[in-house]
Amino acid sequence: MTRQLHFNLFLHDTGHHEASWRLPESDPNANLSLAAHQHLTRVAEDAKFDSVFLADSPVLWSDPGRRPAGKLEPTLLLAALAATTSRIGLIATASTSYNEPYNLARRFASLDHLSGGRAGWNIVTTAGEAAARNFGLADQPLHKTRYERADEFLEVSTKLWDSWTDDAIVADKESGVHAVRDRVRDIGHHGAHFQVRGALNVPRSPQGWPLLVQAGSSDNGREFAARWAEAIFVANPTLAESQEFYADIKRRAVAAGRDPGHVVVLPGIVPVIGDSPAEALELEAELERLISPEYAVGTLATVLGVDVGRLRLDEPLPADLPAEDEIEGHKSRRTLIVEWARRDNLTVRQLIGKLGGGRGHRTFTGTPVQVADTIQHYFENGAADGFNIMPAVLPSGIEAFAAKVVPILQERGLFRTEYTGRTLREHYGLPRPANTLELING
Ligand SMILES: Cc1cc2nc3c(=O)[nH]c(=O)nc-3n(C[C@H](O)[C@H](O)[C@H](O)COP(=O)(O)O)c2cc1C
Repeated sequence: MTRQLHFNLFLHDTGHHEASWRLPESDPNANLSLAAHQHLTRVAEDAKFDSVFLADSPVLWSDPGRRPAGKLEPTLLLAALAATTSRIGLIATASTSYNEPYNLARRFASLDHLSGGRAGWNIVTTAGEAAARNFGLADQPLHKTRYERADEFLEVSTKLWDSWTDDAIVADKESGVHAVRDRVRDIGHHGAHFQVRGALNVPRSPQGWPLLVQAGSSDNGREFAARWAEAIFVANPTLAESQEFYADIKRRAVAAGRDPGHVVVLPGIVPVIGDSPAEALELEAELERLISPEYAVGTLATVLGVDVGRLRLDEPLPADLPAEDEIEGHKSRRTLIVEWARRDNLTVRQLIGKLGGGRGHRTFTGTPVQVADTIQHYFENGAADGFNIMPAVLPSGIEAFAAKVVPILQERGLFRTEYTGRTLREHYGLPRPANTLELING
């Protein structure tokens, strides 16, 4: 079969534009509404998307004075969405820095059972000292340490998911044997960060492991992704950056002994769709007008690692910003933003306008055909295996994308017209992981 695109919908209450909640059409409490999330997920499933995704951090992420900042816990919300959908994949973010493997492995195995094999885990290490302060730490662990812990976290989690063989449960009422005892094993893990005996209290799930997704693109992040990730979310504002990332991650996957086809690269795109180019530009301008610069400048200062007083709205970024290796937060996002501002000679106000839509992701404003052409161009020029769709405004943005862009791509043979698989891994064309316990035992 010819290669086809993969689409994930990044769920984000009223949309990815930070001012979207202020539009007349928006429900400012959509972040807390099951019905709103059900609607978005249904639209994506009707359009045959591979998955929906929820971001997360164990911290009050944005200024509650300025935008809807409340966030429901993602695996709980996805469990509720599993009940009203049947095919679409359900990906939740969870932090390896502020969880223990046993709890999290259990939660994702549970979601995989409840959804019939549709669970995915976006593995993040969580940047920022605010989160650290919620867990009794004065400061965040170092970037390198966070990734070392993430590595061991995955080692433990995969052992736990494999602690039951696929054929462990026989449920033989006659003999009274429910599971064959030696097909359920302790894992006996002793490492630098974790001591875990096992076994997990959830039998092996339909996918074996949830789909492993990753979203950090610093050097440490890329190495981690090359070892573990089966799908990668990435923010690239230009085609050239997407091509560089795509080639680099596939090369690293090969170096790690993996099939590069089993690492699906999904750059983010923020489509702002209008029936005419003028209509699309009008929506974009309206959103920019609604941004609160005083709030946005604070967020920008945090990512750049500078005092907010050093950023002047109508001047370029200061020349002497901390370098990527001097900050312990979102390294790759910091670099992306600084390079963008310098390349396009942007003032802080202009930069905020650009980041308001996608926080560094590729924003694309245009007609359905122009959006479809851009997606096809990336897909056919070594920049993407699919896209993380991040509409500026929800639900209208995904409704427009599903009704107007998806049919164009289906007509071109670039996107499925029906689901052919049942599980999330099958949608992404990925194999089910073998059980390492079974391999060891022959
Ligand atoms: C599409 C996308 C979604 C992300 N979602 C989250 C998230 O939900 N929680 C989080 O802590 N970080 C999230 N990140 C950020 C990264 O996981 C990572 O923390 C950040 O890029 C810093 O890692 P790095 O220094 O390796 O780049 C996301 C990144 C991308 C591109």
